[in-house]
Order: sequence, then C-alpha cells, then structure tokens
Amino acid sequence: MVEKLQVYKCEVCGIIVEILEEGAGECVCCGQDMVLLEAKTKDAATEKHVPFIEPVAGGVKVRVGQNAAHPMEPKHYIQWIELLVDGKSYRQFLKPGEAPEAFFPVTGANLTARELCNVHGLWKG
Ligand SMILES: [Fe+2]
Repeated sequence: MVEKLQVYKCEVCGIIVEILEEGAGECVCCGQDMVLLEAKTKDAATEKHVPFIEPVAGGVKVRVGQNAAHPMEPKHYIQWIELLVDGKSYRQFLKPGEAPEAFFPVTGANLTARELCNVHGLWKG
C-alpha cells in the first residue's frame, strides 16, 4: 500500500519516485521492493537538513539549514526542495555548486517544505 506524496528509493539503481496517487500496490524496482524514505524533522548533528520557510517579497524562500547552509558538493548535496501549499506542490531541482535554497512565488496558509539530501535522505519542516 502506497500513500500520496511518499518518496521511495531503489537501493540498487538509485531511482527515486514520489507517489502521486495512492493504491494497493508496492513500489518495486530492479527486482526488489523500493525503500520508503521517511521524512526526518530534527537534526542531531551539527549539519543542518531541516528545511526552513521564511516569507520574502513576492513569496517564500526555503533554505536548507536555518543557521548553517547544507553542503552543495558533488558527493553530498541537496537534490531538490519541495513546497506543499494548500494542496499544490512545487519543486526546485538543485545541482552541486548552487545555494541550498529555493524561492517560490506563492502564498498560503498551510506550508510544508521537504528536501532530499543525496546522503542523508528526506527531511521535512
Ligand atoms: Fe546531508
């Protein structure tokens, strides 16, 4: 059983999928079950992963690491930042060398941000 907005990863080939509609099936890739990435909400280490939403002119900015920016190196970086707002989803894909942040020209009452670190998985804030 998969649920809407769950994120799964294949531990063989590295494919990552997000569920757009729930159903009774399972996510299978490369001959085995894909792994559900549970969104973490609290950093334990000095490194910061929890996405921080701040209002800015014309919308909101989401930064990964409220006080210290997450690394954006080829071997360790934020792959994407997603913003969920009142039933809509927005996503900014990122590359190494870019800032670990995204601007979304939206407003709304219920905002949730998620981000995916290629080493440390899925985070929510
Ligand atoms: Fe990380």
